Amino acid sequence: MSVTISSPLTLPCGATLKNRLAKGAMTEGLGDPFNRATGGHVRLRRRWAEGGAGMLLTGNVQVDRSYLERPGNVAIDGVQSNEAIAALREYAKAGTANDTHLWMQISHSGRQTPASVNKEPVGPSGKALDMPGAQFGKPRALTGAEIGDVIARFAHAAAVARDTGFTGVQIHGAHGYLISEFLSPDVNTRTDEWGGTYEQPRLVGLDDMTLHPEKAEVRRESTIAREAYFLEYAKDIRAVVKMPLMVTGGFRTLAGMNAALGSGTMDVVGIARPLRVDPAIPAKLLSGVAKETPAHEKTLRLGPGILGPHSPINLLKALNGRGQQGRFCLQLLRMGEGKDQDPKRGVFSAFRNYAKNEARAAASLQR
Ligand SMILES: Cc1cc2nc3c(=O)[nH]c(=O)nc-3n(C[C@H](O)[C@H](O)[C@H](O)COP(=O)(O)O)c2cc1C
Repeated sequence: MSVTISSPLTLPCGATLKNRLAKGAMTEGLGDPFNRATGGHVRLRRRWAEGGAGMLLTGNVQVDRSYLERPGNVAIDGVQSNEAIAALREYAKAGTANDTHLWMQISHSGRQTPASVNKEPVGPSGKALDMPGAQFGKPRALTGAEIGDVIARFAHAAAVARDTGFTGVQIHGAHGYLISEFLSPDVNTRTDEWGGTYEQPRLVGLDDMTLHPEKAEVRRESTIAREAYFLEYAKDIRAVVKMPLMVTGGFRTLAGMNAALGSGTMDVVGIARPLRVDPAIPAKLLSGVAKETPAHEKTLRLGPGILGPHSPINLLKALNGRGQQGRFCLQLLRMGEGKDQDPKRGVFSAFRNYAKNEARAAASLQR
């Protein structure tokens, strides 16, 4: 019988996911000024665990408080206080309710650390991000000894996750953060043992669109009309790796999810943004009550035509992107307070309010 979203999956380690739906990682921004987990994480995670997915990924948890992705991240940096451990335990307990797996995504933001957190980020090289504005400082290249320290930090965070009740970890190797920077020949221009040709880092087994912008362009043509835009990459990955594959990005219909699983190309469907709008959507898809997920990203925009996300004016395009992201992030903060989304919040107001929220959080950080 064909695999569907309802089929359990036993992983090579022996753990079993009760179904094939997983929540994609989404940064929460709910950490306290010491970057500890809070009641917001507990409330949010409980809702999602009750929502029926087989596995929940956390938003990125940082291994170094100096290199956060945003000020409200949770960080596991050094020996954890009793309070921090207790908060992580509560977080894990809520997220593993209802026989749900909870995996912690662990990350280092590298050169993509916002200047509000640290004006001198680090990376494989001193190459700065090519972005307008002063959002990110010019990075300093990590020394060999510092790279060893970063690796030890990832191991430490994973051990703390295990000891506090999380059932797995995901190492964040994408989106332009430190590991992805090391895998990018454009950014990793090192000549020591941490540099080298693309083929060497490739052994890590990751393929990221940011590594192959030209490949991404070609693929986009052929996959744009499809629901899951990374599915074609999954085929290539499937051909060279043995582990189960999860694909996240664009899944919105029950038929599309079951077709992707049934094709044998992938094993787990990741869903992110729809879970901000309807935390119980996995259960509804599993029972057949819903045939599709919310897709707010398709309608959220500053305005029609030239004001929309495909505006020929770069500033408007960027405002749409940042406003939409801000809208989703603000929504999550509300859910952390136990509230539902605010349907009235527009994209421009989300952009402004999110920026204010982040500035406030950065100012309250306790070092
Ligand atoms: C507000 C927001 C926050 C996100 N935070 C993270 C994150 O912390 N780590 C990560 O790997 N991906 C993150 N993502 C990417 C999502 O995990 C996912 O890949 C993306 O939203 C596409 O999936 P979707 O179409 O189901 O939303 C985030 C996405 C959104 C919209």
